Parts: sequence; structure tokens; C-alpha cells
Amino acid sequence: MNTSKIATAARWIHKAEHILVFCGSGLSAESGVPTFRGENGLYNDSKLLEYAHADALTDSPDEALTWFQEVIGTLDELRPNAGHFALARICQNHPCTIVTQNVDRLLENAIDQSPGDTHVDPLRVWHLHGSLYHAKCLDCAAPIKKTPAALAQARCPECGGRVRPDVVLFGEELPEDAYRQAQGAAHVADLLLLLGTSGIVNPAALLPGLARSHGAKLIEINPNPTELTPLAHLTLRGPTGELLPAIEKLLR
Ligand code: OAD
Repeated sequence: MNTSKIATAARWIHKAEHILVFCGSGLSAESGVPTFRGENGLYNDSKLLEYAHADALTDSPDEALTWFQEVIGTLDELRPNAGHFALARICQNHPCTIVTQNVDRLLENAIDQSPGDTHVDPLRVWHLHGSLYHAKCLDCAAPIKKTPAALAQARCPECGGRVRPDVVLFGEELPEDAYRQAQGAAHVADLLLLLGTSGIVNPAALLPGLARSHGAKLIEINPNPTELTPLAHLTLRGPTGELLPAIEKLLR
């Protein structure tokens, strides 16, 4: 572990007045959630390619919703890792806006389980690609706060339509409120933490460049170089489950 880079990261976080935390699937990798790309990535899963598409929900809703329910069941078994817990503590003690591309709720679970004051009230995780734990009506798009357990059988209380997870599928737009929050944070942030993302999916991946053009310093934490590495002022090579706890320890 590069102790001087860890110390620099801790110093920058300590001094920052507004931190934008930008997360990708690498943050959840050590909990057992596969990343999207790479040898064992989710994009090798033929069911994901078939069902994580807007058309699948209209063409074969029973099959697609049953698959989503299985995915949620698998995620339910997983626990936040040391990176989630360290990030939760950092964000409870420093002014952060948290923006994630992840559709799990492992970071929220870590926040719920971590005691401490919050700078943001409530400490909210903005999901740029939606969350499997929120739902909406397939017909009238009415939001449904909690994804029902029996997804394929559930009906919208407003119009009786079918209920789907509120995630961004292939061919869909990002949720406006989350993207607006993220853009606003990119304008004011003086520090951006880039955690476990390849940074190749737009428009989410445009946010680090936006933050940098408004004067933010960028710290990337990732075992591998990414498309966003050239933008980073400080690069820490390694898993977030090891490096975030090391940084958080210095901040205590
Ligand atoms: P990717 O699979 O593209 O990238 C995962 C990143 O995590 C890679 O850069 C890995 O090096 C890194 N990584 C792996 N293990 C790690 C660890 N233990 N600690 C830290 N980093 C680690 O996944 P994302 O960048 O999240 O979009 O992908 C972005 C979007 O692409 C996803 O949100 C998804 C997909 O299309 C939608 O679902 C709309």
C-alpha cells in the first residue's frame, strides 16, 4: 500500500469543503457483486443481456420481472464490505454528495449501520442508474417506494398496471433528479472521489470532467487504470475495500 498517497488523500478530504463521491460497481465487488466488464463481468450473462432492456418488459414481462426478482434475492444475501463502511464514515464526517451508478443498496445499508453525525441530512445516495430497491409502474410511471417482493404479481395502486424496478435499462434515460443533483455537485465540488468505475458510460462518466473544469481535484481509487485516469490528480491503485479504510483511519 502506498502510504504517502493514502496520507495525501486523507489530507485533501480533511481540507475539502464539498466532496463529490462518484461510485461504480468496483465498490461492491468485494461484497460479491460482479462488475459489468471484464472476464467474469455481468455483460457475459445472457439473461442480463436479454432482460435488462426496456423492450423485454413489454415483450415478456413475466420472464423479465421474475429474473429481476431473482437478482434482488441474490443481492439481499450480500453484505456491505469494508469499503462501504469506510465511505459511510467519511461521508458522515465530511460534506459529501454521494452519486452512484450502482443499483444495489449496500452503501445505504452501511450508512444505516454506521453511527455518526451527518453533514447532509439525511445522508442520501443518489442513484444515477436507478435502484433495484425502488419501483415504478410500467404503465403510468407512478413511483412505488419499495420494490414489492412478488414483483411479477404486483400491481400499481394508481392504475393497476404492472410494477417494475426503477433502474435504467438499455435504451432508457437517466433519472432527472439524480442527474441534476450530480451536475450541481460537480459545479461546486472542490474534491471528487472516483471509486471503482471504468468511467466509460455516458452521461454519468461526463461528471468527473465537469467537476475538474470547475476546479475540483480528482482522486481515483481503482486496481486498474481507467478512461478517467488522465483526469486524476492522485491515483491509488488497489481495491476500495482496502484503501478507503486506510484513508478513513487517518481521518479519525
Ligand atoms: P465496470 O465493470 O465498467 O468497471 C468496474 C471497475 O471497477 C473497473 O474499473 C475495475 O477495475 C474496478 N474494480 C474492480 N474491483 C474493484 C475493487 N475491489 N475496488 C475498486 N475498484 C474495483 O463497471 P461500472 O464502471 O460501474 O450501467 O459501469 C458503469 C455502468 O456500466 C454501470 O452502471 C452499468 C453499465 O452499463 C447501467 O446499468 C445503466
